[in-house]
Amino acid sequence: MISTPGTRSLGCQHGWVTEPSEVVAETERVVIRPWHRDEADRLFDLLRREEVVKWIGGTPMKHRDEAVARIDRYAPMLTAEPRFGAWAAVERSSGVPAGSVVLKPLPDGDGEVEIGWHLHPDSWGRGLASEAAGALLARGLADGLQEIWAVTYLNNHPSIAVCRRIEMCLLGVTHRWYHEPSLMFWAAARSDQQPSLTPDGPAPP
Ligand SMILES: CC(C)(COP(=O)(O)OP(=O)(O)OC[C@H]1O[C@@H](n2cnc3c(N)ncnc32)[C@H](O)[C@@H]1OP(=O)(O)O)[C@@H](O)C(=O)NCCC(=O)NCCS
Repeated sequence: MISTPGTRSLGCQHGWVTEPSEVVAETERVVIRPWHRDEADRLFDLLRREEVVKWIGGTPMKHRDEAVARIDRYAPMLTAEPRFGAWAAVERSSGVPAGSVVLKPLPDGDGEVEIGWHLHPDSWGRGLASEAAGALLARGLADGLQEIWAVTYLNNHPSIAVCRRIEMCLLGVTHRWYHEPSLMFWAAARSDQQPSLTPDGPAPP
């Protein structure tokens, strides 16, 4: 539960403290805010898992220290450009991060911004990813981003479903950014906008 401004609150008896000032976006069930250093165990348990990491790139973490270093790396990113970062999507009822949501420039892009999400498997199947992603998408567009992209593997059906639930538009297949066939989803700040980029081809049926 989020406290009134100026106070600190606990998500629950066993949860972690969230400062109201660090909340980036929130929904009925989820609060998006920076990862805390004392949540390294949770981040490690998320990013040591092959079933999570295989969809987001990189290799599974082997040591908790890597999670501490990752949290330490996230913090200055938020200061450099507060619109971009990797945040914890914290379940309100428990105070425990369900996973991460991300808003960041795409690699080798021309300023295009990507939204992403990865949750701990113990938090799958309850709509938390879509809820958090929808809130972060709205926040990014309200913060002045004209368009936001999501890029998924062609067979990442759970992530494709998140894109659909948050009403991102499937444009087709692209090889841009990650240099392998990926689905390209798009959302815009205004309803009369057209995508600034086109896909290489249609999405598979
Ligand atoms: C992608 C990922 C976050 C999706 O997780 P998810 O749990 O399927 O997505 P949501 O949290 O939105 O939950 C949706 C599911 O919860 C169900 N659900 C239950 N209660 C719900 C509620 N109140 N609201 C919405 N959905 C609800 C939905 O029916 C859906 O289940 P279904 O797929 O069986 O139909 C997860 O699979 C993951 O972290 N994967 C590894 C990393 C990854 O792939 N990241 C994306 C890279 S592009």
